[in-house]
Amino acid sequence: MDQIRFGVIGLRRGHSLMAACRAVGNAQVTALYDLDAAQAAQAAAEIGARAYTELEPFLAGPIDAVVVASPVPFHAAQGIAALDAGKHVLSEVTACCTLDDAHALVQAARRTSAVYMLAENCCYYDEIELVKRLADQGRFGEVYYGEGDYVHDCRSLFYAPDGSLTWRGRGDLSVYLTHGLGPLLYITGDRVAEVTALTVPGGKFDLRVTQPTMYLLQMVTAGGRCLRTRMDYISPRPHESTTFFALQGTAGSYESLRGFGDQAKLWLEDEHGASSFRTPARWQPLADQAAQVIPDRLAAPAAAHAGGHGATEYWMLRDFVAAVRGEKPSPIDLYTGLDYTLPGIYALESAAAGGRPVRVADPRTW
Ligand SMILES: NC(=O)c1ccc[n+]([C@@H]2O[C@H](COP(=O)([O-])OP(=O)(O)OC[C@H]3O[C@@H](n4cnc5c(N)ncnc54)[C@H](O)[C@@H]3O)[C@@H](O)[C@H]2O)c1
Repeated sequence: MDQIRFGVIGLRRGHSLMAACRAVGNAQVTALYDLDAAQAAQAAAEIGARAYTELEPFLAGPIDAVVVASPVPFHAAQGIAALDAGKHVLSEVTACCTLDDAHALVQAARRTSAVYMLAENCCYYDEIELVKRLADQGRFGEVYYGEGDYVHDCRSLFYAPDGSLTWRGRGDLSVYLTHGLGPLLYITGDRVAEVTALTVPGGKFDLRVTQPTMYLLQMVTAGGRCLRTRMDYISPRPHESTTFFALQGTAGSYESLRGFGDQAKLWLEDEHGASSFRTPARWQPLADQAAQVIPDRLAAPAAAHAGGHGATEYWMLRDFVAAVRGEKPSPIDLYTGLDYTLPGIYALESAAAGGRPVRVADPRTW
């Protein structure tokens, strides 16, 4: 397969992923599908692709892979339709909104040899890759705790030009958990076994926005780790830093930046010395590790930054293209993508029961 022909669904976020496709090479965008006919036609004319406003003819066209970048409630159905049409799927997050859709996705993936990958780009931040490589080398010792917050004031995306609520404003998307949780599971290679969720009630800024204002999730993993995440895209605050990650191990600790001039930091016992109450060690800049641990990432071409979130979309598309070409497995295959997604769905059950712990299924056993 020389050039992988991509079809892209959903032309807002889809534009970022198209830019990444162009930067990666070995890939061209040949078809665009959006319910908004004018938008599809204009974007298609700009890149010499074909525009579609219906799914069936789009999937029947000359494409090898589909980027699903429509609103979250459509991901499962469109992903399943694409897999059933024999197309490889790169699906935006989250993978699905309900357990029924999760089961249907698993069945569809088992019916085909096509590749599925969840497009959790936060796993592709240089910093997350750096921390993962250090963790894989055992530099943190046994990692037993992680924090992964996604706190991003997205309220401007809740309203259509006429003031009505969009799908985000209506809360049609379950718990948008993967930006915070995905990187923790990527670093540790673990999955969540049990989730406990608390919520702050909705309606604080607009009575029509009834979804919870924020979720606070505490999780226990199959590997016995404790994870905590705050998922909040409503609370008003500066946009300076929208994710926060922390890791604690028996021989090391890491915290990403919070903003306001601080920097990501870590302490590794084997490099920075033991820490004790009387002779405490000091945090060190995480950036000091980059040249040695992620030289490949630092050498990314300038075009790699076209996707909008650093070079995350570029590295993610490279992995997807390599998986489609059979050069390596999909790093966030459907089971892993569901590991990132399902705790958010079970969290709704836990929150409704006042924070009762709820077991999280392993989709590999379905
Ligand atoms: N990973 C990230 O950093 C990131 C960033 C932004 C958005 N996203 C994800 O991308 C997806 C799209 O988000 P957005 O902000 O672009 O949403 P949006 O509502 O701004 O735009 C959605 C686009 O899809 C079209 N559309 C709506 N329903 C459709 C359907 N059933 N079939 C085809 N097209 C349809 C709309 O006309 C619009 O052009 C969401 O899943 C979101 O979670 C991810």
